[in-house]
Formats: sequence, structure tokens, C-alpha cells
Amino acid sequence: MTPPAYNLQAIEFDQSPNTHAGVEFLTTDYRPANSRPNSQDITRKGILAGAVLATLAKAAGVEFAATDSTSSPLTSLIRHIVLAHHAFIRSELPRLYSMAELSIATCAGLHPELFPVSRKLRRLAGDLTFNMNKEETILFRQIESLERIHAASTSVSQAALAGIEDPIEDILREHAAAAALLGQIRAETRSFFLPDDACTTLTGLYKGFEAFERNLYRHLHLENNLLFPGAIALEKELLAA
Ligand SMILES: [Fe+2]
Repeated sequence: MTPPAYNLQAIEFDQSPNTHAGVEFLTTDYRPANSRPNSQDITRKGILAGAVLATLAKAAGVEFAATDSTSSPLTSLIRHIVLAHHAFIRSELPRLYSMAELSIATCAGLHPELFPVSRKLRRLAGDLTFNMNKEETILFRQIESLERIHAASTSVSQAALAGIEDPIEDILREHAAAAALLGQIRAETRSFFLPDDACTTLTGLYKGFEAFERNLYRHLHLENNLLFPGAIALEKELLAA
């Protein structure tokens, strides 16, 4: 089948070495991280697996050169998400939490907002760790399995497919909750505002939050607006075959 034209407005390549040459996908109607794709949107935006493939092929020179992105675009995207975003969260959250605790020890008198910030950061760490583990052990494996079935061109019964939409809906709820929690941290810190008397640790913490927020929103965008709609479309395609 011919994939519909993909509605990308622009693709930006961030080749900074510490962002795993991350790719920013900007669609014509960028969705916030807590939104949920539906099948109507998927059809309208044309995000079928083949279209995702076309997008990733454009990015191949930057980060997918070593992968077989022609037969497994969603699997390649999963690999990118795990390497560039899940790994970043796992390394960055403990660092931010240490800085938050050190900031409390050194300047909580001047910045009492650090107490709720630290509590929310700890909760965010727990929530995101749970979310990433669930994605990697359940949902991503389901998506990779769909792609293997598709690549093998084997017919499959409806009963044999696990049903991808319900687990995706759960994950989208978790993404929305994480985004809301990070929004609360931004509000507590007055958008990571650094006063003139900010010490080095507080400066590092707030700069770290800004970088973490950028990375998280790019991560949720790739999952919510590309990976999940692509997986739902692929499952529908398999069911219709
Ligand atoms: Fe994720």
C-alpha cells in the first residue's frame, strides 16, 4: 500500500554530542505531551508505519545509519528513544535530586520553594522510572512484535493481536501526569528563575531542570505523536489484511 503524504513541516537535526544527535520532529499541529491521538487524527495526519519510515529515512544519515530502518522504522524509533531519552532520564534524575538536596542544605533559608521542589522531583523520578520500565518490558515489545509480524507478511487473527490501544492509553495518562508534575516544579521555581544571589548549586539545578524539561518534551512528543500513532495504524493495517 502507498503511504499517505506525511504532514511534516520541518525536521531539525540537533547534532550536539550530548543529546545523542537527537532529532526534533515538528508537525504542523504539534500536540502537547498530555494529548491522546485518536484514529481520526491518525488518518488525517497520515501517520502510518510507512510514513514514519519515510520520516526516519530522512534522518538516517544522522542517527539511523547503522540500523535497518527500511524494514523496522518503529523499532528504530524505539531504539532512539531508549538510547537518547530513557538513558538521559536515568542518568539525569539522580544528579538533579542530589543538587536539589544540596541546595536545600545550603540555601533553603533563602529559597523555601526547594522543599516542595525536591518532594515533587522525587515523585517524578518514581513515576518516570515506572513508566519507562513498563514501556521497555511490555509496550515496546508489543510494538516490535507487530512490526515483525508485518515484515514477515504473515496473516494474523484478531485474537492473536494483544490490542495496542489500551496499553497506549495507560502510558499516555502517565505521560500527562509526568508533564503536569514537571509543570508544577516550573511553577514552584517561577519558571526556573535565578535570583542574583543564586549559588552555584542552585544555578546548576535550575539549568538542569530546563535541559531536562526540553529532553522530556521531545521524548514524549516522539512517543505520543509518532511511535504510538504508528503502532496503532500498523495494528489496524494487520487486522484489515
Ligand atoms: Fe518513554
